[in-house]
Amino acid sequence: MVSHSVLQYLLVIASTTAAHYSSSFRADGSSCPSDIPLSCTNSSQIPDTCCFEYPGGVLLQTQFWDYDYPTGPDDMFTLHGLWPDNCDGTYSQFCDSSLQISDAEEVLISFGEQQLLERMHEVWKDYQGNDNNLWVHEFNKHGTCLSTIKPSCYENFETNREVVDYFRKSVELFEGLPTYKWLEAAGITPSDSRTYSKQQIDEALRSRFGKEVYFKCDRNHALNEIWYFHHLRGSIPQGNYVPIDAMISSNCPSFGIKFPLKKASSTSSDTITATKTSATSTATPTGNGGYLKLENQAGCLISNGKWFVSGTCATYKLSEASFGGYQLASSKGVCGIDSDGYFACGSGVIAAQFDYDSSSGHVTYGGQPGWSAGRVPSRNAQVPIVPGSSLNVNFRLIFEARYKIIQ
Ligand SMILES: *[C@@H]1O[C@H](CO)[C@@H](O)[C@H](O)[C@H]1NC(C)=O
Repeated sequence: MVSHSVLQYLLVIASTTAAHYSSSFRADGSSCPSDIPLSCTNSSQIPDTCCFEYPGGVLLQTQFWDYDYPTGPDDMFTLHGLWPDNCDGTYSQFCDSSLQISDAEEVLISFGEQQLLERMHEVWKDYQGNDNNLWVHEFNKHGTCLSTIKPSCYENFETNREVVDYFRKSVELFEGLPTYKWLEAAGITPSDSRTYSKQQIDEALRSRFGKEVYFKCDRNHALNEIWYFHHLRGSIPQGNYVPIDAMISSNCPSFGIKFPLKKASSTSSDTITATKTSATSTATPTGNGGYLKLENQAGCLISNGKWFVSGTCATYKLSEASFGGYQLASSKGVCGIDSDGYFACGSGVIAAQFDYDSSSGHVTYGGQPGWSAGRVPSRNAQVPIVPGSSLNVNFRLIFEARYKIIQ
């Protein structure tokens, strides 16, 4: 522990010193103050968030190993996205509906970006075959949360310029992080019989990236995602990405980690069939109906998303969302977080993605473990709730499944 914090201290000194020598840039290439700190390392306010990525100052370059419904080249992890996390590991999503797009290809073509588009089709693959869907989702969910590519950060902004910048940078960062090659060089290659230890994979990736890399295993103990964490000096398209240690630790077992071959049909393994079933149910959602209850508190959520203690609980439908995460809906409509930060369901609410842990039943949002409300509702009051612990009454939200809804 001691040596770790000493190391962190030295790194802070190193990066502070480096600040005097490295320049940083706005999205449009004009320069930023030369002493702009690395994201998440500032010790005072930085008002110009066109030069300083905030609040999502941790940038993750994420990759898939889609081996069932094999996706992309056999010898390549494919691009998942470029995600901003907050400095404390929580994150926002779908931050600005006015910037959302519905067709990524159209945007790229309108900017004459055929080459980028072709490259994206090679490396940025949707396992259901609709790459455009994945790109739209990634930009709308994560790209709209980036402060340094807001339209106001550009001098002569053309509508959707920032979308192209987001896609181009996502591909560039991805290309500098060739996971497959790095693993292969360490003797870690796909196999139906060999397995690997956590330490082997950890060392292979850390020795190349220079920092701890997060790798995720699926329910078959097979490697299926890699996340590289960075801080950023300057803007998303022009800035300097500095590797940092992963902020979470791997869920893979210490030994026996599989690295399955990407191949067209699964032959022997039952476990692979299990994954395929879950992938299929994503395409045709099978939702669970149930109540949203508050742990250690009376009452539950009613259909508008508010907390109520003296009535019947609303039935919520919980279903797997297309690109990870879960969606919630009540009879009023889909659920999300409204512009005041409250949980809400109904028309006019933008569907958000929640996380759900089926073993504990906990429903969470944006990496925040719990939820809070301003007060416990009195007899007939409906009290709104927010993700996180910013309000007085803190609790966890539990999805209590009642029955299965088949759509
Ligand atoms: C870092 O900068 C942001 C944006 O200006 C500000 O909100 C935050 O308080 C700053 N952090 C510190 C420790 O001063």
